[in-house]
Parts: sequence; structure tokens; C-alpha cells
Amino acid sequence: MTKLEIKTISTKPFEGQKPGTSGLRKRVTEVKDNEYYLHNFVQSIFNVLPKEQLSGATLVVGGDGRYFNREAIQIIFQIAAANGVGHILVGQNGLLSTPAISAIVRARKALGAIILTASHNPGGPKGDFGIKYNMSNGGPAPESVTNAIYKQTTEIKEFAMATNVSVADLGELGKHQWDGFSVEVIDSVDDYLALLKTIFDFNQIRQLVANPKFRFNFDAMSGVTGVYGHRIFSQELGVPVQNLINCVPSEDFNNGHPDPNLTYAPELVKKMKAGEFDMGCASDGDGDRNMILGNKFFLNPSDSVAVIAANYKAIPYFKSGLKGLARSMPTSAAMELVAKDLNVPFFEVPTGWKFFGNLMDAGTLSICGEESFGTGSDHIREKDGIWAVLCWLQILAHHNANSASFVSIEDIVQQHWKHYGRNYYSRYDYEEIDTKPANEMMAHIKEQINTKSLIGKRFTTSANGSVLEIASADDFEYKDPIDKSVSSNQGLRIIFTDGSRIIYRLSGTGSTGATVRVYFDKYEKDHSQLSFDTQSHLSSLINIGLVEIAKLQHYTNRNEPNVIT
Ligand code: G6P
Ligand code: ZN
Repeated sequence: MTKLEIKTISTKPFEGQKPGTSGLRKRVTEVKDNEYYLHNFVQSIFNVLPKEQLSGATLVVGGDGRYFNREAIQIIFQIAAANGVGHILVGQNGLLSTPAISAIVRARKALGAIILTASHNPGGPKGDFGIKYNMSNGGPAPESVTNAIYKQTTEIKEFAMATNVSVADLGELGKHQWDGFSVEVIDSVDDYLALLKTIFDFNQIRQLVANPKFRFNFDAMSGVTGVYGHRIFSQELGVPVQNLINCVPSEDFNNGHPDPNLTYAPELVKKMKAGEFDMGCASDGDGDRNMILGNKFFLNPSDSVAVIAANYKAIPYFKSGLKGLARSMPTSAAMELVAKDLNVPFFEVPTGWKFFGNLMDAGTLSICGEESFGTGSDHIREKDGIWAVLCWLQILAHHNANSASFVSIEDIVQQHWKHYGRNYYSRYDYEEIDTKPANEMMAHIKEQINTKSLIGKRFTTSANGSVLEIASADDFEYKDPIDKSVSSNQGLRIIFTDGSRIIYRLSGTGSTGATVRVYFDKYEKDHSQLSFDTQSHLSSLINIGLVEIAKLQHYTNRNEPNVIT
């Protein structure tokens, strides 16, 4: 068998290799134009993994198919081989969705995974590249590990690579072997689909898909889920192929922005507004986010996860009950109403999927979600876009099993609001703001929190002259109930006496400048208050948040957000 030819190569640290909310995200140009930029980061990952665990270990490698992934995969093979890794499982053509990777790590008992994605950020030669490490539970590395990786990147002097390792054709399934090291190209969907089949009743969903009253559309936004969409929705469940759009993975997402929201998925949004389909779904580049729309109806992600939780009995995986429910802090408060009603534990965590992982590993969390179009459960340790779509298909199938007239997504959500009340919810995003004014605006709000000047402040609303009064304000801090670690500075919260909330955060997933996010949440229980337009119903709260408290225009010079959810 071919011996590995291992070389040690001198290098020097690059600044700024600190992983953010979800791994290291950089412009492709920065990664490509700096020799050994990627090598340094990959070696730094291996430097923090205990040698005895690394030796002979299995690692999973794959990504969303964006530009530079193919070259990066070969570099990872070479550095992994030289660092004692025994076996690498790589997706066909280098493609694996983030949730599929999490499933494979767990199913194959791998040591971890290297995921090549910048998620929903644009790709291509001028777009973003991303890399993150996941642990043996299938979830993103905790901060203790990412901080250790970062420290390595600041001290690195050399890396090792096996120069004679490469796999010319990642399109062909099969195993490539060297002495003490192998690479196996695996089907991108098989393991993941096998897991989904243990969670859902595919037969019941097939019946829904075959119902002529139900028209389904899926938009992969030219990301990795095109591969999964074809296999799962079309081949397995019978959705006509013409109802799958943008389902060929592309290195630059077909010159698009693979973020499933009302701004960046215009093709799907247009079809749904025109009433062409009863359910329209989209995934982001790496398949962990989802947007679900009904016929002329926007399903807010915060509502989506609350409704899934409330309908858990429709989903076979949850038939023995729910262990607990959770949401991230800026996500609307709809979820805790369900938790209370079902009498199960509820957790509010900071933004970032990793915070759910500990709760899941401890067996206290079943379903969770975030306003940022992330929904998931403890079947894996990443959020899961296709899973969320299947949940809704299953819930629709369940409600329509014995119904004479078609029960739509909107019907199910309206029923939910009648039972629990409605959280009117919206998020405003201001992208690519200079870091300085963004920080100054946050400092201005923080100052008002610190001096307690906001408490008791009253605002008369323009709509009906009612008064909104601030009850409390803080900088959200979370103490993990499992490992007791404390995460501070997780978003500025303004809470009103009626439970309404305004939240300010700076995005942790951008690659240049700052993105300011402002979140608005207002609860209504009265049945006469459930059917208003979201933006007009929130207008007073929005004005208080943007003008009175943040002075957003003054600091950022922006009149309008780039994206409204
Ligand atoms: C990633 C994480 C999510 C998180 C989101 C926040 O997608 O996986 O868990 O909600 O980032 O993004 P932001 O840009 O708001 O920091
Ligand atoms: Zn993603």
C-alpha cells in the first residue's frame, strides 16, 4: 500500500482567524490570496484535538458546494492524513448539508467533522468561504474549543501535510487507500434519509403529496439541498420534479444570496403571493435554515416552531412525549406558551444553535427554534431545514387525513393563535454598516440600560393612544444549566409592562462591517386582535425602538432596513 509522504512546512500566523457564531467566515479572496491561510486554520483544529483521539479517527468532511470548497477538501485530506486521522468520509462531489453531516457523525461514531460552508452568505470568487469544526455529538464545537483553535492560529509555526494524498474524482463513490489513511466518498443523502425515515411517517406524507388539493414547491436556492430535494421530496415522496426550483448546487448560488427570507427568495415568494402553491419552502446554502410559506401566507419562523411543538403528536418521533422546548432570546415568546400548556420544561438561550446542544445531550430538550429561520430537534445537533419542511408536511397530512375540505398552513396557524394568542413579530436588518457607528449605537442603548433611565419610561402610541411602559432592560446573560458556563453580552433587551419586547443585536455571522438587527415582539390574546397586518400592528413599537431608544438613523445614516422579516 502507498506510504504517506509527510512534509512539515513552516508558516506564520494570520490575524483574525477567530471563529464567529458559526465557524470562521472570510471572503474567498482573503483565504485564497494568502498562502497557507486555510492550512493554518486546519492545522490549528488538529492541534487542539487530543492526539490519542485523533490517531486512527474517522472524520466527516463536506460542504455546501460553494466556490473554493473543492480545493479546500483536498487540503484537508492532506493535513488530516499527516496528523494521524485514519479515515475520512466525504460527501459525493464534496456535497453534504450541515444537518446531514451531523447525522453522519452520530450514525458512524466519527470523532467530528469539518464543514465547509458560509451558510446563507453569498459565494463565488468574490463571496464568502467558511469552515467550522463539529464534535462527536454532531454539534458545533463549543466556545472552549473554538477559542483554543483561535489561540493556536495566533501561535502556529508549522503544519504537516501528506503531499501524495489527493482524490481526483469526488463524483465517484468508493474508497481510496494509503498506508494508515483512507478517504471514502459516500452518497450525500443515504445516512440522513435513513434517519428521517425513523422520524416521520413517509407513507402518510406521500398521501398528502398525492392529494390534488395540495400543491408543494421547494426552492434550494442553488445550494446543497437541491440534492436532498430531488431524492427526498421527488423520488421518495412523489413531488413532481418541476416543483423543485434552483435545485442544482452552484458554486456561487447562481449569483444569488442563499438566505431563505422574504428578500432573498423572490422567485418563491412571488409564486406563493400569487397563490400558485399551498406550501412553499426554501433552504439556505448548507440546508440548516428553512423558510416555509403558505398560500398567500407568511409563516413566521417563531410561529413555525411553536406550532410544530404544539402538534408534536402528529410526528412519530415524538410519540413518547416531549422532554423540553427552547428558543433563542430574540425569537418571539410564542414557544413558552406552548411549553406552559404542555407542562414541559422551557429554556431561553442566546442566539446560536450550539446553546441547544448541551440541553439535548442532557436529555432535557426535544424541539427548539430561532427567529433566524432555524428549526430543529434532538435527532441531530444542528438545525435542520428539510426536517422542518417534513414536520409541516406531516402536520398537514395529519390534519387532512380525515378532513372533507383542505386544512391549510394558515388554518393551522390561525387555530394556534386562537388557542395561545399571537405574538406579532418582526426583525429589521441593517447590513454592512461601518463597525464604529454600529458599536456607538449599541453603546448609546447600553448606556440607557446601565443608568436605568429607561425603566418606567412611557410612550403614547400613535395607533390608539394607548401607553407602552418599559418594565425592565438588560444585556442578556445566560448561565448554561448543564455545564454552568456563563455567556454575557448576548443582546440588549427592552421589556415592556405588557410583555412586548425590543431587542438589539449585532450579527455574529457577517464577514464585513456590522449588521444591526432589531427585533420586535408584541403579544395579543384577545380574539379580535389576531388578524392585523404585522407591520402596522407593530408600528408604534418599531418607532420607539428605532427612533426613541436607538436613534438608529442618527448613528447609521440608514432610513430603511435591507431586510424585513
Ligand atoms: C447561525 C447560527 C444560528 C443563529 C444565527 C444568528 O445561523 O447557526 O443558530 O441564530 O447564526 O445569526 P446572526 O447573524 O444573527 O448572528
Ligand atoms: Zn446555514
